[in-house]
Amino acid sequence: MALPNKPLGERKAVRDPEVEEREVDILIVGGGMAACGTAFEIKKWMSEGQTVLLCDKAAMERSGAVAQGLSAINTYIGDNSPEDYVRMVRNDLMGIVREDLIFDLGCHVDDSVHLFEEWGLPIWKKTEEGKTLDGKKGQKLGTLKSGAAPVRTGKWQIMINGESYKRVVAEAAKLALGDDNILERCFIVELLTDANNPGQIAGAVGFSVRENKVYIIKCKTMMIACGGAVNIYQPRSVGEGKGRAWYPVWNAGSTYTMALRAGAELSMMENRFTPARFKDGYGPVGAWFLLFKAKALNGLGENFAGSDAAKAELEKYAPYGTAAITPTCLRNHLMLFEMKEGRGPIMMDTVSALAELGKTMDKKELKHLESEAWEDFLDMTCGQANLWCAQNCEPEKKNSEVMPTEPYLLGSHSGCCGIWTSGPDFDWVPDSYKIRHNGKVYNRMTTIAGLFTSGDGVSGSGHKFSSGSHAEGRMVAKEMAKFVRDNADFTPTIKETKEELVDMIYKPVRTYLDNVEYTTAADINPNYIKPNGMMYRMMKATHEYGAGTATYYMTTSKNLEVVLDLLETMRADCEKLAAGDLHELMRAWEIYHRLYTVEAHLRHIQYRKETRYPGFYYQADHPGQDDENWFCFTNSSYDKATNEWSLKKVDYVKIIPDA
Ligand code: ADX
Repeated sequence: MALPNKPLGERKAVRDPEVEEREVDILIVGGGMAACGTAFEIKKWMSEGQTVLLCDKAAMERSGAVAQGLSAINTYIGDNSPEDYVRMVRNDLMGIVREDLIFDLGCHVDDSVHLFEEWGLPIWKKTEEGKTLDGKKGQKLGTLKSGAAPVRTGKWQIMINGESYKRVVAEAAKLALGDDNILERCFIVELLTDANNPGQIAGAVGFSVRENKVYIIKCKTMMIACGGAVNIYQPRSVGEGKGRAWYPVWNAGSTYTMALRAGAELSMMENRFTPARFKDGYGPVGAWFLLFKAKALNGLGENFAGSDAAKAELEKYAPYGTAAITPTCLRNHLMLFEMKEGRGPIMMDTVSALAELGKTMDKKELKHLESEAWEDFLDMTCGQANLWCAQNCEPEKKNSEVMPTEPYLLGSHSGCCGIWTSGPDFDWVPDSYKIRHNGKVYNRMTTIAGLFTSGDGVSGSGHKFSSGSHAEGRMVAKEMAKFVRDNADFTPTIKETKEELVDMIYKPVRTYLDNVEYTTAADINPNYIKPNGMMYRMMKATHEYGAGTATYYMTTSKNLEVVLDLLETMRADCEKLAAGDLHELMRAWEIYHRLYTVEAHLRHIQYRKETRYPGFYYQADHPGQDDENWFCFTNSSYDKATNEWSLKKVDYVKIIPDA
């Protein structure tokens, strides 16, 4: 149930919180698109008597990556085939992907899009004459399911009026699950494995960010989908703009950290997404490139992507670089190449694009086109529209700068890091991709029995975007209900005592209360560090040594040694984190989650002795791809008892042949 919004100011934290213990069969951690998919679907598959609970650290109406809305759904298969979808994802992610997961997703994703439309999401339609109708006019042409044609921007993307996209999806999820089965404003800190089998999930522990209360929740199975990781690198936006980022600022790497601390294997954590975005506002570029057919120009006004130098650069990364659609990292690579050669800044030529499109339009249609250009931002990144206003930018008269941003970690957009999961139990899926418990395969289960993930959590399967994450969450629902049925005699047992768990979660509060009176300024104290201070320490280290924007995304073996050493110290110093209120307590645990996640990222970069994703990052001691030695997955695991990381290669299996 949603708690009312807080009164003035943050709620002060007290030394001894109330404790609420719960026990359910199925626990859903997260409230974004993936978790909404699970929430919507789960009751259809649950048996009589099975119980479920969803915990979201925020409020589902506006939580997760889609909180602010979207102007496009980037994965709608439509007339394309799931095989082609696999080929597209494989090429964009430089060859190493989990084709079983991608194919499986491609078979189901459209059903989620059809549901969104049924729930009221306006999807743009194309008339028989090729005109674009959006909003209510588009809805009058009928639904996609009934055969109406979407407005395709690219081969896979369709345009929507999506400011309220998340609200529409959350409403359906909440209705299906029931308010009594939802805990909002509950931040999960740690997953708990079973006392009798450390390889099996048994529960989770967290706290309310609205009341002084700790939750200890036992479960037989769990789905963890808390998004990717943002603000692990110094963002380009500083000072008053620091709250701006491309992906949601509240994505703290919780998915990866909680899974790895529970013992689950991560995979491809070296992969990152460094999106090229409208500078400072982080406005999306997809609609400009694909729908409005805009070109990016270098500082000399040249369309650099078509130059001979660019072609020569791309040929180095064949067959991906020479494919019909250049992979996202290599598009960045070309941009960075120009900038480093002294031919920046890169400008999106909005003026020529709108003029060109306007040639075949009357005045009214042209006005509509211009408002669509604004709506592209207003639907999903309204800060960019504000910035245009603040800078007197009319896109039909003035071009805007585009720039690669700071790095993000995610598994659902144009990246593929995450947790190693089982593929579906089909005979065409290689055995090495299947994870079993008591002899049975469970799709999207991690290497910890009973622990599932979806959306940003699943590695090796990018380009799901919002629709794919929802569909994947739904697929997991069915598997979890099956897991509970198959393991009816399993009694989850938690080895930690109630007191131990409360002591762990409220430690930053107690550190604060014990020491705050020592100094006059609560943020400065010799006996503790506030989460904000730790954030600056982390960002400085990753920015300078970990292939952040400071070095044009370049790192070296020596730099990696330095940053990993710094991160280890920071993790140890987390013992001294202090939190005076509940919001700060959340910040404390978020920074803890971020530190582990970015360490995993950098350890993977250190392990993979090649540069697989030029444009996202460069390992200067190992430039270029090394297909002979590194055409494989890299998986890692962490042992929290010994603080030891181990990494290994896992074979890639090609399932879908080239076209
Ligand atoms: S968004 O998620 O913030 O909207 P963006 O605006 O970049 O991201 O759109 C992403 C979609 O457009 C993805 O499907 C991406 O692969 C595709 N895309 C963006 N730019 C290009 C381009 N220049 N060429 C091909 N596809 C592109």
